[in-house]
Amino acid sequence: MISSDRFSLSMRLFHWGMAALVLSMLAAGLLMVTSLQPWQLTLLTIHKAFGVVAILLVTARLINRLRHKLPALPHDLADWQKTVAKVSHWLLYFLLFAMPVSGYLMQYFAGRPIDIFGLLRLPAALQVDIHLYALFRELHSLLALALIGMIALHVGAAMHHHFVRKDDVLKSML
Ligand code: HEM
Repeated sequence: MISSDRFSLSMRLFHWGMAALVLSMLAAGLLMVTSLQPWQLTLLTIHKAFGVVAILLVTARLINRLRHKLPALPHDLADWQKTVAKVSHWLLYFLLFAMPVSGYLMQYFAGRPIDIFGLLRLPAALQVDIHLYALFRELHSLLALALIGMIALHVGAAMHHHFVRKDDVLKSML
């Protein structure tokens, strides 16, 4: 495999780093909302701080994505499959962005400032808006379900390329 057939090093680092972060955030979120144990509040504080880091990372990742050329998809892939791949990748970027932003807006309208590892405090609305809080809370849950569904499809497609079609799509991201 020649290097132009692979994603750039920065794209691969963003991909696997964010995959680890987002999977941990999904697991922490689902664990948090199904427990009343004392650690639940600590986990929530960590979830919020890393969630803000995710907003910065996905922004940097999008800029990096627009600056790099991608390896071509296999030439024998049907046009509709290429279109589905492109649309699903942009949908994933949208969800990666909307997920933490909805979390932040939920806390903003609840009037809860966000503490980032004791280094920075993000502001919250001075006046609580219970309706917007409820809206963004609901949205955060729905986006999480959509993201889990898209990740399952994405992993399924990668496995199909590797084990069924036996092409280089997965290897290009390794
Ligand atoms: C990649 C980023 C993020 C992911 C994947 C994520 C994921 C999740 C998930 C799966 C839940 C459980 C939802 C449910 O079943 O109701 C959750 C809950 C929550 N998240 Fe996030 N989250 C992210 C970012 C954020 C950010 C940036 C904040 C705030 C700054 C935040 C605040 C919260 C809060 C407060 C809850 C609890 C909501 C409740 O009380 O029902 N999240 N998150």
